[in-house]
Amino acid sequence: MNRSHLAATATLLLAAPLAALAAPDVPAATRAAAAPVHVVTARDTYRAALPGRQARILLDHNGRALAVAELDPSAVITLAQYVHDVEHRCGGFFAFASREQAEAFVARDRLIDATRAPAAATYTIDNPGTVTPWLDAVDATNIYGTIASLAAFQNRFYSTPHGHDAAVWIRDTWQALAAGRSDVTAELFTDCSNCSTQPSVILTVAGNELADEVVVIGAHLDSVNWNNASNPNHRAPGADDDASGIATVTEIIRIALADGWRPQRTVKFMGYAAEEVGLNGSEAIASRYDSDGIDVVGVLQLDMTNYKAGAANDLRFITDNSDTALLAYFGQLFDTYLAPRGLVRGAVECGYGCSDHASWSEHGFAAGMAFEAGRPPSYPGDMADFPYIHTMNDTLANMNDTAAPSAPFAQFGLAFLGELAKTHAPTNDVIFVDGFEQ
Ligand code: BES
Ligand code: ZN
Repeated sequence: MNRSHLAATATLLLAAPLAALAAPDVPAATRAAAAPVHVVTARDTYRAALPGRQARILLDHNGRALAVAELDPSAVITLAQYVHDVEHRCGGFFAFASREQAEAFVARDRLIDATRAPAAATYTIDNPGTVTPWLDAVDATNIYGTIASLAAFQNRFYSTPHGHDAAVWIRDTWQALAAGRSDVTAELFTDCSNCSTQPSVILTVAGNELADEVVVIGAHLDSVNWNNASNPNHRAPGADDDASGIATVTEIIRIALADGWRPQRTVKFMGYAAEEVGLNGSEAIASRYDSDGIDVVGVLQLDMTNYKAGAANDLRFITDNSDTALLAYFGQLFDTYLAPRGLVRGAVECGYGCSDHASWSEHGFAAGMAFEAGRPPSYPGDMADFPYIHTMNDTLANMNDTAAPSAPFAQFGLAFLGELAKTHAPTNDVIFVDGFEQ
């Protein structure tokens, strides 16, 4: 499970959605992967994109029919363009250096049992006194304001000055929410060899009873417009991907700190650098926590929370590259706190390590991700996600100019936070002023 950093990077490169390989802005090292490759994709996608072409048809662990085929670069581009133009999504297939690797990928059950998972008894639900009042405090207009501020940066690409400035802005915004709290610290995490000039941001709320056990809630802070990424001034608002996640984390921080809450476990809110170019910021942090032996008991990733256009659900849990026990806990938390408010959960597979939860999973930590509702799917396996992802049109205006769809994600994050980090009971914290107990 704990593969070396090099191996993890190689896996990510090979598993990266190859729609990107057709784009001129993709780094040369990534483009070089477009030698003949063995691709895995949905059988129906393969047949529609490359009619009449041979492939081996295999079933994955969900009984889904997949096509495995060796393709030259021009066929890879045909497939990528079909996925992008007709199915309107990025990714959609995987490429491997050998047929053995491709077939092993199909056979693998992509739900993970984290090697560093906490004892099952950690995942309890017994703190409604803290969580329930938080749920009513969620205000979508705050989330809207933060998305608007983040989208106003020209871009948040990892290697541009704008991408650096956006990280500093997030650090300052989170720090301001912790004003007067000596138990809360904000930092820029720069120990990342492939994050260029973009730091990750970490806000730590010190635990009290169980300070060595860490709860992580994160989102990626970078953005990209793959049509023009080689220009440092390219326009990439990234309102949904993933200003929405950062804005949701920001609202969670605001509410948790507004009422003076102190946790039993240590909490780390994270804004990850350089996700769009290979999950680099989260990989650097997870790798450090792995080698430092940090006891991370659960990681919630919020990547794209704000697109909802007629979907039957409000929030979907990503089912792959995630820990089984943590996903079950996510479901219980939702059913306890959100379902009674009329909210509906769904589930969907990314099909690859599509966001920063995969970095934590890769290092054996229990991680999972909540993902936006989207629109009604138009074909089996359709992720029905935001059509303007990775373009200059990823804007609030293209999401009905509202952040209302993100509110249930803040509520879910607050339920996760209050229940996994618990509440420090200040019974022993008697404060004396001038000799009198306060
Ligand atoms: N937010 C996306 C991931 C995503 C896209 C999830 C669509 C679900 C539906 C994320 O920011 C992203 O783009 N990830 C990269 C991952 C790669 C660099 C390993 C991707 O999908 O290309
Ligand atoms: Zn993205």
